[in-house]
Amino acid sequence: MKKILSPSNPIGVFDSGIGGLTVAKSLFGILPNENIIYFGDTARLPYGTKSKETVIRYSVEIAKFLLDKNVKMIVVACNTASSVALPYLRKLSNVPVIGVIKPGSKAAVSATNNYRIGVIGTLGTVQSYAYKTQIHKFDRNIEVFSKACSLFVQLAEDGWTENKIAALIAKEYLSGFKDDKIDTLILGCTHYPVLKIIISKVLGRKIRLIDSGEETAKEVRRLLEQFHLVNNKKNPGKHKFYVTDFQKKFREISERFLGQPLHDVKKIKLK
Ligand code: DGL
Repeated sequence: MKKILSPSNPIGVFDSGIGGLTVAKSLFGILPNENIIYFGDTARLPYGTKSKETVIRYSVEIAKFLLDKNVKMIVVACNTASSVALPYLRKLSNVPVIGVIKPGSKAAVSATNNYRIGVIGTLGTVQSYAYKTQIHKFDRNIEVFSKACSLFVQLAEDGWTENKIAALIAKEYLSGFKDDKIDTLILGCTHYPVLKIIISKVLGRKIRLIDSGEETAKEVRRLLEQFHLVNNKKNPGKHKFYVTDFQKKFREISERFLGQPLHDVKKIKLK
């Protein structure tokens, strides 16, 4: 454990944009008394199609911003950033940095019965092999089948989560997993939990869906407890939201991702 901070310090959460609100939602649910700062890099999204070097550079800039706000922990909600940037963020951070890959993989490894796991994510996440590598660290005997599902991001943002087009695209992306005979699928992108219903319809109810964000929130709680950093104040935690562009759209579609409307979103410029 690095530098110990006060339990009332906020947790910093960041994503390329709005999708990380699905992770924030899980955090708010599991840790209602925590102060949380959410950062969405809406000016520079998507990260999923950008090079590893660029995603690392952006992530480092955001981590510095959050550390300046005295966060007690950094949660990298973005799967693409978690796939490539964690070692770099850990190097510069004096507080724990948690990504979504390990908690999601761990949950999938304990869920699978037939040792066949599917992973869906952005191109960047899939090409990094981060999930496959992590799953094999837990158990080398598991077969991992990955697929980049880039269009899902736009479907989720536009609210096209259950219409004909969403069904068609989901079928096109996911049908191959039936031949692969997976019994567990990791939703390895912030946006995909919003599409859970359609994904389940295409794959059938027998395939377990693992929400990496939800698993990460549980891991955050476990780590806070372990390091005696849980905020035990009785009043609900304060939540602050920062974006780098497009406040209006962020506010408008936030409800779909967070389950509640957002009013106070600040636009800032990163140094
Ligand atoms: N937040 C990204 C992720 O979880 C998806 C959106 C993007 O490509 O920036 O990988």
